[in-house]
Amino acid sequence: MVNKVKTCVFISGKGSNLFSIIKNSRNYYFPIKINLVISNKKNADGLKIAKKYSIPFKFFSSINQDKFEKQSLIELKKKKIKFLCLAGFMKILSKNFIENFGHKIINIHPSLLPRYKGSNTHQRVLKNKDKYSGCTVHFVTPKLDSGKIILQKKVSVSKNDTKESLKKKILKAEHITYSKAIIATFKQFLFEKKIYFNFSVFNTIRTVYRIFIYGQTIHFSKGSFFSFQRIRGSH
Ligand code: GRF
Repeated sequence: MVNKVKTCVFISGKGSNLFSIIKNSRNYYFPIKINLVISNKKNADGLKIAKKYSIPFKFFSSINQDKFEKQSLIELKKKKIKFLCLAGFMKILSKNFIENFGHKIINIHPSLLPRYKGSNTHQRVLKNKDKYSGCTVHFVTPKLDSGKIILQKKVSVSKNDTKESLKKKILKAEHITYSKAIIATFKQFLFEKKIYFNFSVFNTIRTVYRIFIYGQTIHFSKGSFFSFQRIRGSH
């Protein structure tokens, strides 16, 4: 059985990235399982997605950010969460929260970082008549949109693009890129790779990789590993 990393997703809105991660995480060999969704917006559509897929969810208001972070940390510890994905989460987490959580946090940003940190990325891309934009998945540090880049996807900008059409194109790319970046994140923790010959009842030879992720061990066959690459978007 694949020992999936217990994961929480922070959202603020629609939750289309959450939806694509949920779908991909149902793949037996996907490295994470979503055990918790936290929203800082009471009416975030993403909460309905969590409910539909029977994932525990919480709403904590972030009007008082300190309170939001304290309440979230209690819930993360209670559920033994070891990985946090920010997906359309519109708040900057404090240094104190990042340190207290103590595990990896990743985020998706709708531009090719380091260009266009912060908000209104699509407007700024169009204003500068850039030929390309895209999305970036990166580790979260206290400095906004500045942590180490895990994966980027380039999207071409056409002359006819509006803010809305560009947003739509990039969002489609985000849905695929986020899951690929999650796989890439855990590949970075691979520090032991061994080949075992397993003479089972079927007398087949099976290649097994041993991966240590935060001290956990995952076993999966080579054939299945390649199925990792067929990541689905939400469409
Ligand atoms: C996405 O473009 C995300 O990168 C940004 O918010 C948008 C909405 O995402 N930060 P979602 O549909 O809520 O996942």
